[in-house]
Amino acid sequence: MQRESSAVVSSEIRLKSRPSGLPTLENFELVKVPVPAPKAGEVLVRNLWMSVDPYMRGRMNEGQSYIPPFELGRVLEGSAIGQIVTSNVPELQAGDYVTSMFGWREAYVAAATSVQRLDVTPSLQVPLESHLGALGVPGLTAYVALFRIANLKPGERVFISGATGAVGAAACAFAKAMGCYVVGTAGSEEKRAWTERVLGIDAAINYRAPDFDSAVARAFPDGIDVYLDNAGGEQLRVALDHMREFGRIACCGMIDQYNDTVPKSGPANLYNIVTRKLHMEGFIVMDHFDLTERFQRAAADLVRAGKLKWRHTIATGLAAAPQALIDLNSGKSFGKSLVRLSQMA
Ligand SMILES: NC(=O)c1ccc[n+]([C@@H]2O[C@H](COP(=O)([O-])OP(=O)(O)OC[C@H]3O[C@@H](n4cnc5c(N)ncnc54)[C@H](OP(=O)(O)O)[C@@H]3O)[C@@H](O)[C@H]2O)c1
Repeated sequence: MQRESSAVVSSEIRLKSRPSGLPTLENFELVKVPVPAPKAGEVLVRNLWMSVDPYMRGRMNEGQSYIPPFELGRVLEGSAIGQIVTSNVPELQAGDYVTSMFGWREAYVAAATSVQRLDVTPSLQVPLESHLGALGVPGLTAYVALFRIANLKPGERVFISGATGAVGAAACAFAKAMGCYVVGTAGSEEKRAWTERVLGIDAAINYRAPDFDSAVARAFPDGIDVYLDNAGGEQLRVALDHMREFGRIACCGMIDQYNDTVPKSGPANLYNIVTRKLHMEGFIVMDHFDLTERFQRAAADLVRAGKLKWRHTIATGLAAAPQALIDLNSGKSFGKSLVRLSQMA
């Protein structure tokens, strides 16, 4: 069916080819498309921010995972914050902020039911884009990992990989707020120093340093109660060696292997799970959205107390988004990766 154009033109990023190993710019294509006028029940949205996330690398591969792969020749997807330009439903007004999975494009028309109104709390004085990071799904992921999967208790000894990232930094704040002893990992000396100083945890360790294993041993003379694994690989192996009896491992992600072309072998010390009676559990945040309100209250309390910190790497303009995803996958980004798509109206 033909639809009238709204005279809005949007750029979008499509998947041109599937990468082998680290993505390259040739895997992406920037295309201009007309945006149709919204029909009854639809909204026209201009995106302000889009999120660049580790899971996007997996979706560039062929084959079903917990989420379908990106399709060749089709616009990519991902979380975004936009502002309503035109609304054909009473529940949303022009100017309202909405979150959606319609990232990787500047503007779009969609069913109003496929976007969610974002009610910002001005008194929190947080930047809008933090709702894609510590105050959004990555923050919820940290909350789920610690409190539902690992059943964290006050005062425990917690090890968190990927502490500079959106999930890890939020997890550090939640665990510190429980009075836990918290050690995080980071991928360079600069990132390590930031993690220790800004996140205010007990210690941070550079996972790329040659003495990583012994540094973890020194940081946990009595072992680890809870390990939040964002990395897999060597960090998981080292954590398994330092877990206490009845310790819990929340398996959140394994970013260490997302660009591998040949599968690595698993850690050789998995038998520690048996001998130390460990509980190791994977999860996907989408199955835990029932915790959203509890998480939002807890995160807002931490913001008010000045205890929820983060670092953002911000690229500007949709054309910069593919490079932002490449940088995230090659260790060049620092903290949560975001793309500013448009200024607020
Ligand atoms: N299970 C779920 O539902 C769920 C939801 C969201 C995220 N996740 C997973 O959680 C993890 C962190 O996500 P995020 O949103 O916090 O990402 P993010 O904000 O983009 O940060 C990326 C993090 O990954 C680290 N990293 C990058 N390359 C690495 C490598 N080769 N080896 C080890 N660490 C590396 C970075 O550390 P440095 O820069 O310090 O190296 C940084 O801490 C990812 O594995 C992601 O897939 C899972």
